[in-house]
Amino acid sequence: MKKIFSGVQPTGTVTLGNYIGAFRQFTTLQDEYECIFCIVDQHAITVPQDRLELRKNIRSLAALYLAVGIDPKKAILFIQSEVPAHAQAGWMMQCISYIGELERMTQFKDKSSGKDGVSASLLTYPPLMAADILLYQTDIVPVGDDQKQHVELTRDLAERFNKRYNDVLTIPDIRLPKNGARIKALQDPLKKMSKSDPNKKSTISLLDTPKEIEKKVKSAVTDSEGIVAFDVENKPGVSNLLTIEAALTGVTIEALVEKYKGVGYGDFKVSVAKAIIDHITPIQERYQELLVSDELDAILDDGAKRAQAAASKTLKKMENAMGLGRKR
Ligand code: TYM
Repeated sequence: MKKIFSGVQPTGTVTLGNYIGAFRQFTTLQDEYECIFCIVDQHAITVPQDRLELRKNIRSLAALYLAVGIDPKKAILFIQSEVPAHAQAGWMMQCISYIGELERMTQFKDKSSGKDGVSASLLTYPPLMAADILLYQTDIVPVGDDQKQHVELTRDLAERFNKRYNDVLTIPDIRLPKNGARIKALQDPLKKMSKSDPNKKSTISLLDTPKEIEKKVKSAVTDSEGIVAFDVENKPGVSNLLTIEAALTGVTIEALVEKYKGVGYGDFKVSVAKAIIDHITPIQERYQELLVSDELDAILDDGAKRAQAAASKTLKKMENAMGLGRKR
């Protein structure tokens, strides 16, 4: 059976962008593939985090993974720092990465530009991500468009490792969602929707109340034309809202444009907000139940055990290939 691996950072609350770009894909894939999903807390500490807040976010993210429909009987769900093989393989990946190629990563450029005291780990973030993926001999990595460059680097590193040492690692493919690989910020539809956006009106969180969602969608930036049409270049705001509704309802964009023929932006926005609220309300209800249940710890304990067992096999092969330690 082909293997899937993906991860999400436990920083802030999960956005509608994370959901459409990543989580939505996860739930459909778990029926067809061997799936491994990770809460990447070691990636989160590449920028300073409050200790208690991070712990809370890790638990919250675990509950959300389950609330959106990840079934722990089908998929492995675990926390990155609880499986030491990730940091170990991450170091090996760093040793075969070039500084130049890491400096070229757009995420590194965005997060480091104009800042003093940039951590070394912000630069070496992608080799750790490569380790996450490669440890499980992953065939497919479902992510949003912003992670494409990191997955491409992962492929390069795996090929380099196999050529330089021994043919140990599977070369993974990327999988982007058909609709919504890059959900845009509501207040600036040329930028991606991001957890770290200082303008809170730009980002819908999966845990926002219906009132908050309505308010944010109503104030979304559109244009002055007043016609609901899909045209990413000239009408990025309206196109983003159409993409969101299409991704959540499964209705095609063409059918939505037809539905909104002659409808003004005010009513259009009310209808998009309703589609979002209808979709995420049941998720929020399951989330609240899971957060207080004992189930969560048992699932994460079991996930860490199964992940470590799988990862340690590849780690041993990588160590043997590089000549680390003694032959075992
Ligand atoms: P993170 O935590 O920033 O985002 C989690 C997932 O959400 C997707 N995403 C989006 N998709 C569509 N539109 C958006 N506006 C949007 N914003 C975020 C991301 O592409 C991602 O799929 N480096 C990764 C975490 C990671 C990982 C991995 C992923 C660590 N190791 C191994 C896959 C495999 C990250 O920061 O994702």
